[in-house]
Amino acid sequence: MQGCTGVCPAIGPRALPFGSPVMDAYMTESSSLSRRFLVAIFTEEEDILSATRAATDANHPVYDAFTPYAVHGLDTAQKLPRSRITWIAFFGGVCGFLTATFLQVYTQGVTTSALSGWPLIIGGKPFLPFPAFVPVWFELTVLFAGLSAALGMFAVNGLYPGKKARLLIDGVTNDRFALAFDPQGRGFDEPTIRALMAQHHVAEIAWVDEAPASTGGARKLLTRAGLTLAVLLVVIAGAWVALNAPHHEAEVAAPAPAAKPIVLLTEAELAGVNTDAALVVAGEAKFRANCVVCHGEKAEGKVGPNLTDKFWLHGNGSLADIYATIAKGVLEKGMPSWALTLQAADLKALTAYVGSLRGRNVPGKEPQGNPVELPAAASPAAAATPAAP
Ligand code: HEC
Repeated sequence: MQGCTGVCPAIGPRALPFGSPVMDAYMTESSSLSRRFLVAIFTEEEDILSATRAATDANHPVYDAFTPYAVHGLDTAQKLPRSRITWIAFFGGVCGFLTATFLQVYTQGVTTSALSGWPLIIGGKPFLPFPAFVPVWFELTVLFAGLSAALGMFAVNGLYPGKKARLLIDGVTNDRFALAFDPQGRGFDEPTIRALMAQHHVAEIAWVDEAPASTGGARKLLTRAGLTLAVLLVVIAGAWVALNAPHHEAEVAAPAPAAKPIVLLTEAELAGVNTDAALVVAGEAKFRANCVVCHGEKAEGKVGPNLTDKFWLHGNGSLADIYATIAKGVLEKGMPSWALTLQAADLKALTAYVGSLRGRNVPGKEPQGNPVELPAAASPAAAATPAAP
């Protein structure tokens, strides 16, 4: 590209947008030559359209068109290639969709050693309620597509804040329409173009000098500001990651429940917990904090079953079975696995509390599961005896 003067084959008319590196190199090269453009001014929209069509058809391509508002059909009249913005917006939309999917699946459904989401079941919803994802999918797809279309437009145009107009033509932001022809462009022939424009009611046709390339300083300044900002952002992001990484690792490692096998206790190991008053009180507090949403204030049952009746879905109501259900959960039915979030001591206390409820028969949810007669040792009467003074 260096030393390319006169008609430059690689840079045809409109081949490069303003602000592209090649064009800039070309401009700085030739700015000393002070480029001029033949500019035809029109007062009517129809005239600029027909003039553009005629010029393009007669193989005198227009270098650029300037209008105060978007003129429908001007791009096709110039035979401009289809805009890339559609693809940019499409790509942005796909990114938005994937972001929404990742966010929702990660937060609601995934617990691996690498990723720890928050797979909670509330009100019996499944882990991955896809219909509920739809609004978020929609919103993020539209947001990303819209933003990338807007930002992509500026990037493709080569527009940036402080960009100076290259051609100063009076009235084109107001009530004039202008066509610029590049004398170094393909098929340029002044008399023919003048005649052609005259046929389309040109109001004025004249040579216009390119605005002095005084934008260099401003541009350098902007580039520098942009670079500084980018470096600053990288530093902030790096610091954030550095500060958060160990903390996050600890968070993942500490409960690291999925990796650890769930240790269950035998009936013998649990014997008597339901009559240990201190343990039962501790268990009740844990129950209030974690279980009442599903099992009710008095364990009378809500989404989860009544824990005070003699009907059991899992096992036969023995302390070991209660411990196992609390620890492992019944994920497909919405009972969380509490070994993931609570300590073994808490599970034991909860077992003590739930064990102490057996036989209370608080009226509540209808019976679920199989009726089991309480073992004598676990009956409330037997439980009350040692505790009585
Ligand atoms: C998100 C709702 C929810 C929460 C919170 C919850 N459970 Fe459950 N629980 C259930 C459901 C639903 C079942 C029934 C599972 C089935 O249908 O197999 C259940 C079953 C049980 C069972 C077995 C009952 C039986 O009949 O076999 C026990 C014991 C139990 N839960 C204890 C607890 C304890 C203790 C807590 C608090 C640490 C707790 N649950 C918190 C929903 C919940």
